Amino acid sequence: MAYFIVQGGKKLKGSIKVNGAKNGALKSLAASLLFKDEIKITNVPRIEDVFRAEELLRKLGCEVAQKNGVVTVNPEKIKTASLDPEIAKRFRASIVFIGPLLARKGNASFPHPGGCVIGKRPIDLFLEGWRAMGSKIEETKNGYTLSAPRLMGCDFTFRNISVTGTETLMMTATLAKGKTILRNAASEPEISALAKFLNMCGAKIKGAGTHAIEIQGTGGRPLEAKGKTMQTIPDRIEAGSFLALGALLGDPLRITNCDPEHLEVPIQTLKAMGVPLKKGESWIEVSSPKKLKSVDIKTREYPGFPTDLQSLFALLLTQAEGESLVHETVFEGRLNYAEDLNRMGAKITVCDLTRALVRGKTPLRAREIESPDIRAGLAFLGAALIAKGESRINNIYQIDRGYERIEERLNKLGAEITRVNS
Ligand code: EPZ
Repeated sequence: MAYFIVQGGKKLKGSIKVNGAKNGALKSLAASLLFKDEIKITNVPRIEDVFRAEELLRKLGCEVAQKNGVVTVNPEKIKTASLDPEIAKRFRASIVFIGPLLARKGNASFPHPGGCVIGKRPIDLFLEGWRAMGSKIEETKNGYTLSAPRLMGCDFTFRNISVTGTETLMMTATLAKGKTILRNAASEPEISALAKFLNMCGAKIKGAGTHAIEIQGTGGRPLEAKGKTMQTIPDRIEAGSFLALGALLGDPLRITNCDPEHLEVPIQTLKAMGVPLKKGESWIEVSSPKKLKSVDIKTREYPGFPTDLQSLFALLLTQAEGESLVHETVFEGRLNYAEDLNRMGAKITVCDLTRALVRGKTPLRAREIESPDIRAGLAFLGAALIAKGESRINNIYQIDRGYERIEERLNKLGAEITRVNS
């Protein structure tokens, strides 16, 4: 298992370019199944979850090619409607492929999606939505089989806001017969970007980016790209991650090719913490201040504070003077990083499944730690970067799932991270 060796205490100076959004590109790859012709997706990050998604598409019979971050998918020769379970289990977003597959083939089967350390991650909302569109659902010991020879539009309310639930049912409804309304839908920027591309190719989706989305289905006719390309939007979570690292070690750190409008709440949070910050149309520059002020953080669905930045900002709060309450309202298992940071010298009291009290400022000591998931993995890398001494971070596949060549990009700024493939 590969690991990082990190020499802590180095400042980060210079500029770092943000890649295309993982949580945008994965859905565009899934959306290719809605098309009868080839689609081209640009600015696709070369990360492990994208490699798994490309493998899934090839196993379904699609032709997938990639050059310098431009991915082309030709779904003409789809030969099966069942996801390869070994690949699908390795990333949660594989469930997003089921909506387009069901819409395109009239059936689909997939394994129980792997839960992960941030929570149970049920799929009840997906199943309710597919049932509402007329799909039969059979649960077997290996997973689920859906069959829907005729998908009908419906008026569906999400009991709980779900990002992939919204994206998946929006794509299912795109080829259904008649009108679908998705209420209490998620409003993330990646959803608006996906709808915009599908509309360029013949879909009729209104309201994406709001909590009510209306889709006029094609009645089973696949979409046609006719050479149009899907441009992946900048990764707001990667940009937000670099903001946190810049607030810890920036001297200064300039983050380019990002969209500050997608990061208004994290930016406002940094300002409240006393982090010097400048921003332009597509860049943000941060430096680490002598003194960080403690603030409370509550994660919310977009445009609220993103749950994916919670662990990184909790790390930042360990370096702030005073007490901060971190309240994670989206996932029930996302304070899983606290004990490891405490073993490095942090003072984080986990009050219950969703709230932690962070007391700072606490210098951190180098240690050997293991990445539990993508975002806590990056928080541990950040902790190792500020801890005095040499740390080791194991299970860095988790970090590679969401951040491309992260050690190369941070070493260019002054970090000292060595990847060891053991
Ligand atoms: C997406 O996950 C992202 N992943 C996550 O990013 C992100 O943290 C999350 O949205 C919230 O913003 C991708 O887009 C691939 P949800 P998703 O469905 O869609 C509950 C990362 O690190 N729920 O919005 O799986 C669920 O348990 C990842 O890039 C149900 O109860 O999250 C959670 O408590 C981590 N039933 C809440 O809804 C369902 O059927 C929100 O989850 C589905 C979800």
